[in-house]
Amino acid sequence: MGIIFAENQGNKLFKLDTPNTSYIIGVVCEEGFLGHVYYGKKVSDMQGAEHLTRMYDHPFTPDTNARDRLSFMDCFPTEYSSHGVGDYRESSIRVKTKQGQEAVLLTYVSHEIYKGKKGLEGLPATFGSEDEVTTLEITCEDKAIGLKAVLSYSVFEDTDAIARNIKLINTGEDKLIVHKVMSACLDMDNQDYEMITLHGSWARERHMQRKAIGYGKSSVSSVRGETGHQDQPFMAILEKTTTQTSGDAYGIHLAYSGNFRMMAEVNQFDMLRVMCGIEPENFSWVLESGEYFQAPEALLVYSSEGLGGMSRSYHELYRKHLIRSPYKDKKRPILINNWEGTYFDFDETKLYNIAKEAAALGVEMLVMDDGWFGNRFDDNRALGDWVVNEDKLKGGLKSLVDKVNALGMDFGIWFEPEMVSPDSDLYRAHPDWAIAIPGRVPGLARNQYVLDVSRKEVRDYILDMMFQVLHSANIKYVKWDMNRPLSDVGSAVLNSERQGELSHRYVLGMYEMQERLLQEFPDLLLENCSGGGARFDPGMLYYSPQIWTSDDTDAIERLQIQEGTALIYPLSTMGAHVSVCPNHTVGRNTPFDTRGYVALAGTFGYELDMTKLSDEDKQMVKKQTQMYHQFNDIVREGDYYRIASYGENHLYDCFQVVSKDKKKSLVFFVQVLNEANKKSRILKLQGLCPSSTYAVKELTMEGDLSEPIVKDTGKVFGGELLMNAGLGFERMWGDYRAKIVYLEEN
Ligand code: DGJ
Repeated sequence: MGIIFAENQGNKLFKLDTPNTSYIIGVVCEEGFLGHVYYGKKVSDMQGAEHLTRMYDHPFTPDTNARDRLSFMDCFPTEYSSHGVGDYRESSIRVKTKQGQEAVLLTYVSHEIYKGKKGLEGLPATFGSEDEVTTLEITCEDKAIGLKAVLSYSVFEDTDAIARNIKLINTGEDKLIVHKVMSACLDMDNQDYEMITLHGSWARERHMQRKAIGYGKSSVSSVRGETGHQDQPFMAILEKTTTQTSGDAYGIHLAYSGNFRMMAEVNQFDMLRVMCGIEPENFSWVLESGEYFQAPEALLVYSSEGLGGMSRSYHELYRKHLIRSPYKDKKRPILINNWEGTYFDFDETKLYNIAKEAAALGVEMLVMDDGWFGNRFDDNRALGDWVVNEDKLKGGLKSLVDKVNALGMDFGIWFEPEMVSPDSDLYRAHPDWAIAIPGRVPGLARNQYVLDVSRKEVRDYILDMMFQVLHSANIKYVKWDMNRPLSDVGSAVLNSERQGELSHRYVLGMYEMQERLLQEFPDLLLENCSGGGARFDPGMLYYSPQIWTSDDTDAIERLQIQEGTALIYPLSTMGAHVSVCPNHTVGRNTPFDTRGYVALAGTFGYELDMTKLSDEDKQMVKKQTQMYHQFNDIVREGDYYRIASYGENHLYDCFQVVSKDKKKSLVFFVQVLNEANKKSRILKLQGLCPSSTYAVKELTMEGDLSEPIVKDTGKVFGGELLMNAGLGFERMWGDYRAKIVYLEEN
C-alpha cells in the first residue's frame, strides 16, 4: 500500500493506495498540468493510466495544438482547477495581484513522498504514525503571480480514506490577496451520479437528502460563521443504483467548523467536478511576501460496497485518526443533564436531589447546564460573566461538586465561551469585544452577541475565567455550547484590507481556545454543542470525542437525525439522552423503553428531573444503565450497518452494530407506526460471519430488577441465513415501539 511514483514518456504518475481503493494523479504536458486520472476500486498497476485524462483522444493538448488551448483547459480533468485561464468550470482558487487581476494556474514543480503525516498549523487534522500513513506533497507554482501551492495527500494503511489539504505561499515580492482557496477538487466522468447532502434546521439536523445532480452547479454551504444546523460540510456522490450494500459511493467531508462550501458541477462534456473548502463569499486573506495560508483538510472516502462501506470508512477514520481525546476508546460516563429537567430554575438542593436519585439508579455524572453564573436566571443576560452565582448555588460550586462526588458521581459543567449578553459585566466593560460593524447596530439572536475570539486578549480573558471555575472544584466534563451564528461580521482591530479574514480568524481562535482548555485539563471530557447539533463537524471531533447531536430528544425525531449523523460519524460521537414526555420539542409521547433503546445507540445519558420519574420508569433507568455497561463496547467500537430507514419508509427503522470479531451484534429495531393485520417483518441483516451460528436474544426492560435484561429466545440461526434470508421481527402492539435484538455467536 502507500504511494507509488512512476515516470513514463515524460508523464509522471502517482498512485495512492488504501486497502481497497486507488487514487491516481498524472502530471502531463510540458507545462506540467496536474491531472486527475482515477479514483475508485483498487487497481494493481497504472500502466497507461494517463489515457484517462483523455489527452490522447484528441490532439488538442497545448503541447500539440496551442491554437486550441482553451478547448483543452475546459475539459481536462484536473486535480486543482485554475481560475480565469480557460477552464470555465468552477475554479478552486482566486488570488488578486497588486495589479488587480485574479487569474491563477498552478502547475507541477516537484514532489515528495514520506511516511507519516504533518499536522496543520492551527487547524484540526487527521493523524497517524509512520506505519499508518503515507503522504505525497506536490509543489505547484504560478510563476506569473509569484504563488506556490503545496497539495498534500495522505493515505491510511488501515482505512479507505484520503486526507487532502493545500497550503499557499507567496513567493513573490508583492502582496497577494486570496479570495478563494478550496481544500479539494475532484474531477470525474459523470456516470449519471446522484448526490446525498445532509440538510436540517434547529432540532431537525442532518436529514438525508438524495437527488440527481443534473447539469450545472449544485451546492450546499454555510455563511453563518459556524457549520450550522442547516447543512453539513459533506457530500456523497453515488450511482443511481447504489444502495447501502452495493454500488459506488464517494464521500467528501471538510474538517472545518466555519463558513464552508460543497459543490458539484456537471458540464457540457458530462464531466463532474466536486469541490469543498472555505466559503469564498466574504472571505479574503492577505498574503504578504513570504507568508502562507493553510486551508482546512478535506477527507475523501470511496467505497464499492455502497453507502454502508462509505459510512464504516468514515467511522474508522474518525475513531482512529481524528479524535484525540483520552476518552475516545473508553466507555463514557452515563450523565444526567439538568437542562430539560429544570431549565434555569434550579439551585444546589434541586441539583443535588436529582444527582442523588440518579446515582441510586446507576447514573455516573451530573452535568449542570446553563444558568449557574452571574445573574443568569433566564437567557437574556450574563453570558460572559463566568463567575458562580452563589445565591443560586449556596455554599459555592466546590461544596456542590463535593457532595455530588460523595454520591459516587462525577460532575460536569456548561459554558458558552464565545458569547456575551448586552446585559453583562463583560459587555459593559468591553463593548468593542463583540463582533460588530461600526455605525450599524449588530443583530441580536437569543439576546446575545458573538465575542471576537480572533483577538488574543478576548480569548485570554474568557479562558482565564473558565480556568478559575474549573480549577475551583473537581470538574471532569465541560459542555461547550454556542447558541447563535455570526452576523454583522466586522472586526474592531483588523485593518480594512483584512476585514475579510475575520470569519476564518474566528474559527482559528475558537480552535485555539479549545486546544488550550485541553492542555490545561488533559483529562477533561469535552462535549461540543451548538444549539444542539449546529457544530457537529469533523473539526470539532478533533477536540471533543462527543457532540450533542440535537436539542430534539424525541425518540422518533431522533431516528432520522441519528441516521443522517451516523452516515458519516461513529455512534460513539453522538450525544443521545432520554428525556420526559410529552417531549419538549414535539409534544409526542413515546414509551420510556423506546426512548432508552434509541439513546443507547449514542453516548448515553438523561435530560430530565430524575426525582419526578415514576417508580416504573426508575426501574427502567436501572436496567438501561446496566444495558449501557453491558453493550456499549459494541456500540462504541463496532461496525455500523443500516438495515432500513424510517426516513425512507415512514414506518420503521433498523440498524445494526457488529463487534469487530463478528461474534456479537446488536440489532436496533423501531416500529414507528403499527400496521393493521401485518405479520412479522423479515429484514436481512449484515456484517455477520456467514459460517457462524448465532443465538438470538433480546434486551428487555420488562419486569422488576430480579428479571434479567437479556432474554434468550432459544432460537439459533446461521450468519448466512440471517444475512441472505433475514430475521423476523414480530409486530408489536401500538406505535413507537422498539427492541434491541442481541446476537451472540454460539
Ligand atoms: C442549547 C443546548 O443545545 C442545550 O442543550 C442547552 O445547553 C441550552 N443551549 C442552554 O442554553
